[in-house]
Amino acid sequence: MKNIEELIQIALDNKENSYSPYSNFRVSAVVMTKNGEIYKGVNIENASYPATICAERSALAAAISEGARDFHTIVITGDSNDTYPCGVCRQFMAEVLDIDTKVVIANSPTDYKTYSMEDLLPHSFSKKDLL
Ligand code: THU
Repeated sequence: MKNIEELIQIALDNKENSYSPYSNFRVSAVVMTKNGEIYKGVNIENASYPATICAERSALAAAISEGARDFHTIVITGDSNDTYPCGVCRQFMAEVLDIDTKVVIANSPTDYKTYSMEDLLPHSFSKKDLL
């Protein structure tokens, strides 16, 4: 298992993989499973702007596509101070993260905040509403 400082450094380094020619705003996300496996994602923009994929969904799609579940931590870092997930990503994350998954908004390995999904999207519409 990597510690939080290591995960944040991985996320910061991974920002260079951002494909963001339109906004020039880089975002990177790193997710670690409870087994310690790590998956990375970046924002991937498109000339048809709404087709853009955010870094959070990119990382989680990579992880889930490889069969990963049970996420321990997701670290998000972007080009602004305190880059928080957008509304679409919050809805996506609420579906696939666990109640105890740590959501870390990071500026540097020593400057970060930790949340739960309940903090970021309270009273969410979720699978409990459909089942
Ligand atoms: N973006 C993310 O990847 N994640 C966020 O949490 C906020 C926004 C991306 C989408 C777009 O490529 C760029 O940042 C500017 O909105």
